[in-house]
Amino acid sequence: MTTVLGIESSCDETAAALVTGDRVILAQRIASQDEEHKPFGGVVPEIAARAHVERLAPLIEGTLADAGMTLDDVDAIAATAGPGLIGGVMVGLVSAKALAMATGKPLIAINHLEGHALSPRLADASLAYPYLLLLVSGGHCQILLVEGVGRFRRLATTIDDALGEAFDKSAKVLGLGYPGGPALERLAAGGDPSVVPLPRPLKGSKEPHFSFAGLKSAVLRAHQSGEYAAADIAAAFQQAAIECLIDRLRRALARVGDVAVTALVVAGGVAANTAIRNALETLAGEHALPFIAPPLTLCTDNAAMIAWAGVERHALGQSDPLDVAARPRWPL
Ligand code: KG4
Ligand code: ZN
Repeated sequence: MTTVLGIESSCDETAAALVTGDRVILAQRIASQDEEHKPFGGVVPEIAARAHVERLAPLIEGTLADAGMTLDDVDAIAATAGPGLIGGVMVGLVSAKALAMATGKPLIAINHLEGHALSPRLADASLAYPYLLLLVSGGHCQILLVEGVGRFRRLATTIDDALGEAFDKSAKVLGLGYPGGPALERLAAGGDPSVVPLPRPLKGSKEPHFSFAGLKSAVLRAHQSGEYAAADIAAAFQQAAIECLIDRLRRALARVGDVAVTALVVAGGVAANTAIRNALETLAGEHALPFIAPPLTLCTDNAAMIAWAGVERHALGQSDPLDVAARPRWPL
């Protein structure tokens, strides 16, 4: 059975994982840098890159040890080659190149977004192409028709902020610290969304694109007005975000009406949000589609999804040369 070592270092998680062709995560380790970035209220690229340098090699060693394996047992080495913070991407990619060179094993350069996009197939063997994917993370907000490995039709993207970014910035406004998404969700659970009027940017517009900058600014104004409780603002923000997601997805589903999509799928860090998951599940039900969301640990940044994308590419006989470039921007 194929075993791929995956490496992820494109943002603030340093991660390594060993995943097999039959979807077993043999071992995975992840080191979060939340504590390092907390004082700054966001990820500081230079600090992130330095932390990856310190942590990655021992993390890979530990992951191999957890699985009782050595590099001899690995069939290929997959690493995120972008998009992301370039310093961090370079740490992971150059490490993977060094391991590939030393062992003679193939190197597979993975697009981080493809890692997120294919992760539901690691969690669910029944998920077949093509599926409609909502990819919502700190850096990205897209609706994709996933037709195969490396075959994506982008139906929508954000014209300004990603949804995770809007969650994080709104959380910061409300004094919730970093990373803000999960904290904002917890606060929203005790709030009343109907108290605070917030906009639904682009709702009803023809193209299924997203916009969240106006929503984030409205949260700031609502907070500064001093009229509303933080929990009510959080609940109203989450409610507005959900309505935008559902409206845009309806539009996208209408767009691909002629394609027999197998499922509605969500991936990326924001997919950890339970209220969003519930709304998506309802939408899928309305369209008689199965709803598939990977487990939370596969939604936020991790190396198992990178290893899995490596497994899929390896199965197609794909690999990359040792001079493959790290790419800060790399649209699917
Ligand atoms: O996929 P990810 O780990 O990193 C990127 O590639 O961006 O996503 C991180 C994003 C952050 O913006 C974080 O606040 C958001 O996902 N997030 C959430 C929740 N958990 C993580 N947003 C809303 N609700 C959550 N429960
Ligand atoms: Zn990500």
